[in-house]
Amino acid sequence: MTPVAGRGAVHRVIAEVGDLALLNDSSLDLAARVAALYESLRSQPDLAPSSVVDRLFGELVELCGEHGGDLSLRAAGVLDDERITSRLTGLHEVCAEGEYLLERHWASRIAAAPRPREELAGFPYLENYRELTRLEINLLRCFGVEPSAAERICFLGAGPLPLSAVCLYDELAVPMDVVDRSPDAVTLGSACGEALLGPGALRFHRADAADFEPVAEADIVVLGALAGLDQEAKNVILGSLWQRLRPGAVLLVRSAAGLRRLLYPAIGVQELSGWEQLGVLHPLNDVINSVIVLRRP
Ligand SMILES: C[S@@+](CC[C@H](N)C(=O)[O-])C[C@H]1O[C@@H](n2cnc3c(N)ncnc32)[C@H](O)[C@@H]1O
Repeated sequence: MTPVAGRGAVHRVIAEVGDLALLNDSSLDLAARVAALYESLRSQPDLAPSSVVDRLFGELVELCGEHGGDLSLRAAGVLDDERITSRLTGLHEVCAEGEYLLERHWASRIAAAPRPREELAGFPYLENYRELTRLEINLLRCFGVEPSAAERICFLGAGPLPLSAVCLYDELAVPMDVVDRSPDAVTLGSACGEALLGPGALRFHRADAADFEPVAEADIVVLGALAGLDQEAKNVILGSLWQRLRPGAVLLVRSAAGLRRLLYPAIGVQELSGWEQLGVLHPLNDVINSVIVLRRP
């Protein structure tokens, strides 16, 4: 090594140590900010849409939506931070509750609106749903599965505003079996689905995702990110789908990666043993959820 090259190497090492230190600092800072946002959300009287709740969730999504490059190191630092490990379950619960109440608010407006499509156009995350369902459709096509040829598609954990099912129907025109365990979500979701798509496009069922027997007749099943909030609940659902799906049926599992794991539960590929694993997509754009494509062998 020449002295010059040696000096270059030393500078590089110093620069890398500096980068890591910066990364470390930014992980610590981010963990503190996420923990503070979580505590503020927890201290609200409820998580229904309001200027304060919307602002807090907006900041949380902005912090966690970043993706890629050094961020995966930063995400590991944040996810390992004790202030986050002790709050992760609570974070997922708060996000699920906030999403449910936001959907409830918009579903009531859409179901009651004289022009439901115009009302839907005001929903702030409409484009994210459209992009996510288009990604899923194209991902299936990458693996030789043509979703518009399916006779039955089933969506598990559809919510009071069943936008994933609505967007899938808009793209594919395949009738969907839509499942939610909450009676309130089923009532509002079916009213909303009928207002947006007319009768018969979405068939709503009240059931837990782990107990819905007719899933056996589906060609394609989508497991919503919030169906089964913790690892144990998710594994129970996956185990039941493994028992029920017929060989050749395809399962799309929505998950999360990087900092987005603060907002939604993530599924490790090791929890999917037995399934034929076709692929995983981690979007780097505004789409928050990752998608895992599996086939029942
Ligand atoms: C807030 S929604 C989000 C889905 C979103 N609307 C979509 O279109 O992708 C999540 C829904 O999952 C439902 N859910 C959670 N766990 C479930 C389970 N084990 N079985 C069925 N539904 C479940 C909740 O009741 C809630 O309505």
